[in-house]
Amino acid sequence: MISSADLKKRYLAFFERKGHKRIPSASLIPEHDPSVLFKTAGMHPLVPYLLGEPHPLGKRLCNVQKCMRTDDIDEVGDAWHLSFWEMLGNWSLGDYFKDEAVQMSFEFLTKELKVPVERFSVTCFAGDKDAPRDEETARTWEKLGVAKNRIHFLPKKDNWWGPAGQTGPCGPDTEMFYHAQDIQEKSTEEFVKLSSTGPFCEIWNNVLMQYNKTADGKFVELKQKNVDTGMGVERVTAALSGADNVYACDTLAPILDKVLSISTAGTAKTNRNARIVTDHLRAAVMVLGDDKGVVPSNVDQGYVLRRLIRRSIRHGRMIGIKGEFCSEIAKVAVDVMGDSYPEVRKNSSRIFAELKKEEEKFSIALENGTKLLEKKLQLLGESHQKTLDAKSAFDLFQSFGFPLEITVEMCKEKGFLVDEAGFNSLMKAHQELSREGAEQKFKGGLADHSEETTKLHTATHLLNEALRQMVDPSIYQMGSNITKERLRFDFNYDKKLTDEQIKKIEEWVNNVIKAEADVSFEMMDIEDAKKLKAQGIFEGKYEKIVKVYTISKGGKVYSRELCGGPHVKNTRELRSFKITKQEAVSAGVRRIKAIVE
Ligand code: ALA
Repeated sequence: MISSADLKKRYLAFFERKGHKRIPSASLIPEHDPSVLFKTAGMHPLVPYLLGEPHPLGKRLCNVQKCMRTDDIDEVGDAWHLSFWEMLGNWSLGDYFKDEAVQMSFEFLTKELKVPVERFSVTCFAGDKDAPRDEETARTWEKLGVAKNRIHFLPKKDNWWGPAGQTGPCGPDTEMFYHAQDIQEKSTEEFVKLSSTGPFCEIWNNVLMQYNKTADGKFVELKQKNVDTGMGVERVTAALSGADNVYACDTLAPILDKVLSISTAGTAKTNRNARIVTDHLRAAVMVLGDDKGVVPSNVDQGYVLRRLIRRSIRHGRMIGIKGEFCSEIAKVAVDVMGDSYPEVRKNSSRIFAELKKEEEKFSIALENGTKLLEKKLQLLGESHQKTLDAKSAFDLFQSFGFPLEITVEMCKEKGFLVDEAGFNSLMKAHQELSREGAEQKFKGGLADHSEETTKLHTATHLLNEALRQMVDPSIYQMGSNITKERLRFDFNYDKKLTDEQIKKIEEWVNNVIKAEADVSFEMMDIEDAKKLKAQGIFEGKYEKIVKVYTISKGGKVYSRELCGGPHVKNTRELRSFKITKQEAVSAGVRRIKAIVE
């Protein structure tokens, strides 16, 4: 049986032998990207390069990326879906295309992992008005030895990937499915049925990125044709061990065992509640353990984290787990993930402290809220009604901290619906959440490279420097999020900024704007970037060459920062800069919102 660590090692070594350069796993929390809360695929940090910017390490890359998707959170607990997982990927940035990508995938699976060809089926794009049927890829599979009746053509909803948001790079894909048992599907219909119910598991996706979807819904051929692939570490590890579900993977099985050991309900390994607790608490550990330092809250990533923890507590109770238990499970998760992600060990005291705080907050509320809800449902039942009203659901959120999905889930278990649309409008009226639009962001998306966000991106670099120059030289960036309207910048500082300080920061930035400084970039050795005191997180273990943006005028350097871009060419394009708000995020972390023009 292959371990997940071994799988990752062999994958990266294989693609390195094929001329790929390894890039590090980026933080789970995206930088400068308002459209997503988490990295949802390995391609995420690569969007500028998929759109044509040259990558410092060349045209062939590979890595393993921490990923999180919450849009199919309801499916977690089935055989193969997870909220957090590790994704292996290899990329061609305008280098090889279909044929070679498929050949490499086939070689890795059959030669390196020794998967018998009879054990997999593949799918290709069936074609529609936007792009033709992908016969070419199907022929390559056939040439390699995949039986014709195991090559299925499926429509866009199955065999097309991206754009992750409204616009951006996308294309038809070809997916590989592993058969846990040696099952012969007889038709495409039968394959579709089996692949969604368990015995077949999708293990790898090769996206043949040849289009850019524009804002008006057109698919324009990309000048640069890319390959973007994604392989789920947990799925492959479990599937190759002969298991029919992902929890057999060595980074999940010990956590599930621990959950079962403290359950008092004689719970089986296949129990959905136990699987949810396993998945969610591992995900919570990875978010809390990320160097970006997210903690539970009612907005953005903090809210997702809160939902994961609260849902774990509820599902834990359903299998008879009593008292505080999150940290106990989290300890096992830190153990199994800590070797691959040392930041999780480093941040473990924060993980345990935050879990404890959240658990204390929610445990009593869960009990009281459940009682109240049960009473309400009983009354509804007596009056032959089927839907819980929006206000009751919102009260449960406000007074007992029930995320909507917990209320919906509890109602569903008892045969009731919830006025979700009504809840959402009440939530919209609830100021901070509506402003941040957190729920909309769960679906995934790509960085917006519009003129407005580009200007704010450059303004962010200037603000970052102004804080050090005008307030405290030890300030550094802890988070950034940019929408078309404003920038948002989190940094380490434990006091409220005075009006005087705010004024000085604005003046510093506006002076650089007035100075009409040039914004340029250079690829350089990471050591040189450090010597030049470029700002940025030097989180790369493998990345030797980095991109550094400099804002300068006539030899005077205003800001130098590691960054993928994009930026304006000259600071005059920003016109003027204004801070609109400052607030505390958590102990020692402050947030500034600002606009340009
Ligand atoms: N980006 C592709 C996926 O996530 C590979 O499936």
